[in-house]
Amino acid sequence: MEKPWDHGRDTIYMVRGKVMASWFEERSTRTRLSFESAMVRMGGSVISMADAGSTASSGKGETWSDSVKTLCQLSDIIVARTQHEGQAAAAAQVATKPFINAGDGSGEHPTQALLDVYTISKYFDLNHPISIALVGDLKYGRAIHSILRLLSLCPSVTYHTLSPDRLNLNPRDYLSRPDLKVCHHKSMTDIVDVKPDVIYMTRHQSERHSENKVGDTFIPKLHYLRLEHVTSLPETSIIMHPLPRGPELTPEIDSNPRAVYWRQVKHGLHVRMALIESMLNSPFKE
Ligand code: CP
Repeated sequence: MEKPWDHGRDTIYMVRGKVMASWFEERSTRTRLSFESAMVRMGGSVISMADAGSTASSGKGETWSDSVKTLCQLSDIIVARTQHEGQAAAAAQVATKPFINAGDGSGEHPTQALLDVYTISKYFDLNHPISIALVGDLKYGRAIHSILRLLSLCPSVTYHTLSPDRLNLNPRDYLSRPDLKVCHHKSMTDIVDVKPDVIYMTRHQSERHSENKVGDTFIPKLHYLRLEHVTSLPETSIIMHPLPRGPELTPEIDSNPRAVYWRQVKHGLHVRMALIESMLNSPFKE
């Protein structure tokens, strides 16, 4: 999808006549617009509920199951960001059309993981050992959960974590893989000292903490990534962030060649084009 003409393909006809339902109960910029852009770039159409959390008929008591059944009657493929963990899995039980999880509460964000690992693969051979530092709100960050699952398919990954105790998550526990190599760290300086191939920054998931009644969850400044950290890293290291960002990632870093988070956004478009095309043009078992 990055270079369709090189492969003799014209993306504009790939899903012509198909309709995507875009259902977002939570805020989104990148995920919703990249899915919608992907569909339009391939000749499809979009029906969109950007504020489903406040305007959909669920506010009149309609069940999630009935909402999914309705979307399946009106579209050919569904992309949904939902408020609660497990809603995507529940939808899959009743959906008669392809259903893509665009983030379910603090659960998973699988297409973010696809674009993240695609980005890493541009810089590193994932068949060789790789080290990745996971920084921020690891417990409630769904992008973290999903990248862990996808990286677990790679043969040799060393994890370094940097997170406040209340927000930490051990990849070994999350993946039930006691064999994983994991080191916990106390500051960004410690992370930089181990020279990881990838530093994957995440923001404080403030919207989750009121919901889960977790107090005192701020990200300390010792965990922020500063320009002086970045310039101490090997030139081959990359800095990633699913975005949106908070104070943990200063915009001063944006112009450093190690910063690849804007490339991640672009990769999100191409990965989602590929995903939609493969789902719509493959036989779907109801
Ligand atoms: N990365 C990501 O999911 O961004 P949005 O919340 O803007 O979609």
